Amino acid sequence: MPTDYLDQLPHARHAAIRSRREENRGLLASAQKGVVRFREPFESVAHLRARALDLGGDVVRIGAADELDTEARQTVLRALRAFMPWRKGPFAVFGVDIDAEWRSQRKWQRLLPVLPDLAGKVVADIGSNNGYYLFRMAHHRPRLAIGFEPYLQHYFAFQTLNQLAGLANLHTELMGVEEVGLFANCFDVVFLMGIVYHRVSPIDSLREVRRAMRPGGTLIVESQAIPGDEPVALFPEKTYAKVPGTYFVPTGACLVNWMKRAGFREVELFASHPMSSEEQRRTDWMTFESYADFMDPADPSRTVEGYPAPWRVFARGRNP
Ligand SMILES: C[S@@+](CC[C@H](N)C(=O)[O-])C[C@H]1O[C@@H](n2cnc3c(N)ncnc32)[C@H](O)[C@@H]1O
Repeated sequence: MPTDYLDQLPHARHAAIRSRREENRGLLASAQKGVVRFREPFESVAHLRARALDLGGDVVRIGAADELDTEARQTVLRALRAFMPWRKGPFAVFGVDIDAEWRSQRKWQRLLPVLPDLAGKVVADIGSNNGYYLFRMAHHRPRLAIGFEPYLQHYFAFQTLNQLAGLANLHTELMGVEEVGLFANCFDVVFLMGIVYHRVSPIDSLREVRRAMRPGGTLIVESQAIPGDEPVALFPEKTYAKVPGTYFVPTGACLVNWMKRAGFREVELFASHPMSSEEQRRTDWMTFESYADFMDPADPSRTVEGYPAPWRVFARGRNP
């Protein structure tokens, strides 16, 4: 019987976390269509375990093509297709190449120059999606890397990939950033990427994250942003680049101020770039609209709503 990783985190609120997990267990085992739809593909491949694992390159490689016969590979392909649309990647799973909407390796490359030493550390990835970055982190040998991901589709996509990969130090909780404070004083390094602009109260989210961090820990935040040097945020009337759940879209300077006012110190921007359809695009594994459809076709410097086209900014800070 594998031990619960919580036993390694003495400051976490064990009773509250276990009670949240209990609620989730009920949901995950239920006969609801929306659950079965993702649980079944997970179960269909749960007996397989990859021999080859390559987490050191841009493509997360789990298993090689010659490890399975044709029938088993078809089962894997069917299971993986059930998790479409794939937003984050690329992956290669037993020789099945998953070209996701986002070329997530680019984001990882931008933060590699400032990546804290993860060896032996307890790390959180908030909004971990299918776990692409958790697998990239695993290459740096953390003691534990825990993803927080409240959506069943992504949760089961990760469980499937990690069932195949068999990495005992990677986990995902079916929880959101609003619950991360239950992991009080737990994390040496936290990644909060693609989240703050989706929050009604970005400062409250950053404070919640700080509660989960150890003194001296490092927070890395990546955000959609508007261009400019003033510390301001755009608040769209309804949608921004067609996305409804977008609230405050900051400039880099604004994000720095948010982090400082949430209590982080030594806050600095370390990268920024305009978004492009090179990095986020429609593929065989994500067949819906993508970046190019979100921009004004007559003026690529504007979103379809007439707002400034998005940038992405990266900042880091220290929990004092
Ligand atoms: C824009 S994606 C960013 C994914 C990844 N972190 C990245 O940077 O590429 C936002 C992710 O956060 C997840 N999410 C949604 N609500 C959340 C919440 N309340 N707390 C944490 N994550 C959430 C989404 O399901 C999705 O996987």
